Amino acid sequence: MSNRALFSEERSAEVVAVSFANTQDPRLKQVLTSLVHHLHAFVKDVELTEAEWGTAIDFLTRTGHMSNEVRQEFILLSDVLGVSMLVETINHRTGGTSTESTVLGPFHMVESPKRELGDDINLDGKGTPCLVSGRVTGPDGEPLAGATVDVWQTNEDGFYDVQQPGIQPAGNLRGLFTTDADGRYWFRSVVPRYYPIPDDGPVGQLLAATGRHPNRPAHLHFIASAPGYRPVTTHVFVADSPYLDSDAVFGVKDSLVRDVPEVDDPARAGEVGLPNPFRTLTFDLALLRADHAPPAAQPADVQPTVVKGVPS
Ligand code: BEZ
Ligand code: FE
Repeated sequence: MSNRALFSEERSAEVVAVSFANTQDPRLKQVLTSLVHHLHAFVKDVELTEAEWGTAIDFLTRTGHMSNEVRQEFILLSDVLGVSMLVETINHRTGGTSTESTVLGPFHMVESPKRELGDDINLDGKGTPCLVSGRVTGPDGEPLAGATVDVWQTNEDGFYDVQQPGIQPAGNLRGLFTTDADGRYWFRSVVPRYYPIPDDGPVGQLLAATGRHPNRPAHLHFIASAPGYRPVTTHVFVADSPYLDSDAVFGVKDSLVRDVPEVDDPARAGEVGLPNPFRTLTFDLALLRADHAPPAAQPADVQPTVVKGVPS
């Protein structure tokens, strides 16, 4: 008789984990073993019924069918479960010395249009005019001249240009800027507004079934990069936006929220090329040096002890 353990309810995870014993890649072995332990603990915790298992398989199948080159429903699922933000946060710890990161989202363009400092990226003329400016520095405050600042935001109707080809001008409300000798950037745009993530698929059904809304608070996306420094993918959030406390994808971090005050000064409006009055959004970005070790892990959440579905 073999001394290989047979499957039982009690030993299920261990038995499956043993089946990975010959996995060559140690990281793959570690990830699969941990995954199986967590998955089996979850099934035992909720005592999953066969009907629920079938519903889950159907949900994941529909999530796959909804995905194509321009729509990634699995990433959206990861987003609304907070997994994208957790992966992002674990892999971009700042230790408080640089700008915090947040999710990239699906609407970034790899080839964003190049812009000159001061350009107006509001090509459809909608929205409240806003001067966006800031400085890109290293962790010790050293200005990063020639840094790239890639920005994108929705229009006043809550859509990115890539969601509305033929309706919005291509490149509306996005662009690639290069900082000046002091590490400064500035451009003309509009005050960002809140908008819903795509909710016409299985992820939208999950949100509806759990009484959640699909909205993200008003934000402007940034990727700041400079040679010799770690790039940061982040947003600046508008302080008085609806949904700041209930972002559908959990992307808000306190350090990324800014007021967008009004300036009522015709002379200044003339200088910057905006109608009076206008709003201002100031967002400085600090990058970590590429050759510095990433900061140590933050303390983990306390693992709840779960006894038959009742968290202690
Ligand atoms: C976004 O901010 O563009 C976004 C992020 C996650 C899911 C959908 C949209
Ligand atoms: Fe966004």
